[in-house]
Amino acid sequence: MSNPLVDFASDSLSPVIQDLTALNTLGLASEADAFVTLDAPAQLPALSVLAGQASSLLVLGGGSNLVLPERVPGLVARVAFKGVRLLEARPGAWLVEAAGGESWHGFVSACVAQGWDGLENLALIPGTVGAAPVQNIGAYGVELEERFHSLTAWDVRQARYVEMTAADCRFSYRDSAFKHGEPGRWVIVSVRFLLPRPWRPVLAYPDLQRHARLAAGSPCARDVFDAVCDIRRTKLPDPAVTGNAGSFFKNPIVPAALRDDLAGRFPGLISYAQPDGRYKLAAGWLIDQCGWKGRALGAAAVHDRQALVLVNRGGATAADIMRLARAVQQAVADRYGVRLEPEPVVV
Ligand code: EPU
Repeated sequence: MSNPLVDFASDSLSPVIQDLTALNTLGLASEADAFVTLDAPAQLPALSVLAGQASSLLVLGGGSNLVLPERVPGLVARVAFKGVRLLEARPGAWLVEAAGGESWHGFVSACVAQGWDGLENLALIPGTVGAAPVQNIGAYGVELEERFHSLTAWDVRQARYVEMTAADCRFSYRDSAFKHGEPGRWVIVSVRFLLPRPWRPVLAYPDLQRHARLAAGSPCARDVFDAVCDIRRTKLPDPAVTGNAGSFFKNPIVPAALRDDLAGRFPGLISYAQPDGRYKLAAGWLIDQCGWKGRALGAAAVHDRQALVLVNRGGATAADIMRLARAVQQAVADRYGVRLEPEPVVV
């Protein structure tokens, strides 16, 4: 790829062979043929040159939403740009910017500490700021798109910066434009968030309503942050201890007729009405009801406190995880006629 920008690059990149086992939260044994760390945006033109010579490019954030094979061919680039800053204190909102390589939870903690409230429901989600828009992360009643302002991405193929609005990102449930189209096309350099003032807590999620810390009334953002951390620590495995990639499946969205039929046949079915008239089903409940919660196939298992999470019991490979995922999908399809779609990116 001919790239005039490279003449101005203040930094070059030398790929190395790299063990990726500690760089993916599922803890799958994996190795990259050619690996670079991006410490500064000045290295991006050099990345475009290298990517042009490689068979493929995998852009790595926190590795928390990935199923990696034992050998990743092509080029792997880990985004490590750092920095958090307040861009504007508007009367009606804070405009805050974070670099793509910042830890998501670290960024949320920093915002709560500064009084830039509004992201606390998204506390403790693993991964980086740059990966957050890719799957439009969401939890406990807040989706990233509701707090998103814009982002700066590097177009690897055209070797240029592009500013993107929410409309450009085409957000939907755990999905965005970045999950479609050409893999390895974009590096998310920085993301801007618009946090409305005055702050209003989002407490409708059943787990939050039940939480003692919030039941007392008039919680501050710190209370919500602490409650979310508490709930997540109870239900979800800590990737530092047990390899996992959060929810392994999306909650399926089905037509109202199918949901009504299922609700008639399976009392207790958990579903949430969507704005378009369809229903989102709780995939964790479906898997649980099929008897898969806590069950293992070799080194891969369904988490015993949240059936939507698959865990690595130690030494699992991508093939082990995918074998378990297929067995779970089959069980749910046989019983409910619903197809579960994996949430992580399977490389
Ligand atoms: N449920 C069961 N058995 C289970 C798991 C869940 O019966 O084993 C039931 C729960 O009792 C509840 C319902 O299913 O009534 C939903 O469960 P939960 O509140 O735990 O949420 P979820 O729909 O399973 C989603 C997100 C999570 C997020 C939580 C909280 C997806 C794919 N997952 O899970 O996000 O933390 O809501 O908002 O949308 C992630 O995406 O990686 C993730 C962890």
